[in-house]
Amino acid sequence: MTYNFNKEIYDYGHKFGVPISLNDTLTFLCDTINKHGCKQVLEIGTAIGYGSISISQNTCAEHIDTLEIDPERIKVAKDFLTKNNVKNVTIFEGNAINYLKTCTKKYDFVYMDGPKGQYPNYLPYILNLLNPNGILIADNLNFHGMVTGKIPITAGCRAMVKGLKKYIDLITTDKNLSTQILQIGDGLGVTIKK
Ligand SMILES: C[S@@+](CC[C@H](N)C(=O)[O-])C[C@H]1O[C@@H](n2cnc3c(N)ncnc32)[C@H](O)[C@@H]1O
Repeated sequence: MTYNFNKEIYDYGHKFGVPISLNDTLTFLCDTINKHGCKQVLEIGTAIGYGSISISQNTCAEHIDTLEIDPERIKVAKDFLTKNNVKNVTIFEGNAINYLKTCTKKYDFVYMDGPKGQYPNYLPYILNLLNPNGILIADNLNFHGMVTGKIPITAGCRAMVKGLKKYIDLITTDKNLSTQILQIGDGLGVTIKK
């Protein structure tokens, strides 16, 4: 399926060096949400709203909650939401862990795209928020080749790579989960809560 992803947000991300999702990744996310009819979506890591606005404009999702810690990115994301008349995205400001620990809402689909080293710590909270048969997709499981050993791990990335390896181990060994690692974008972990 070919989707319309917002070129202005894409260009802004590239111009100002904001890490935004790859279009191949977003295409897979939108396909999955539409195929499974996911209505309530949670995204960890809003950045400037490229992912949440893409999901809002191209899927059957009714509402997208998204978590972001960086106030400047939140401001830009809010401006893009207003400019594009997107009404079904709510940004929760602050450290994602606070939301994950206190949230009582249930989700059909979670897109984990926040701090990579925290994925294993976030996992139990996310599984609590997911409905049965809910889908969790985690981005950057290859971490540009550092997780797979294709390129050497640089000093500043050690903790992130360690966290991602632990996360992969957790999602592939838990018998209550069904997981596939897909070579789409920078590596996607697709986990279904049984
Ligand atoms: C890869 S970007 C998200 C891209 C976005 N999902 C998209 O589709 O374009 C990751 C974001 O996570 C945010 N982040 C990092 N640590 C966080 C935390 N502890 N809580 C919430 N957001 C965090 C970063 O500020 C960054 O904007």
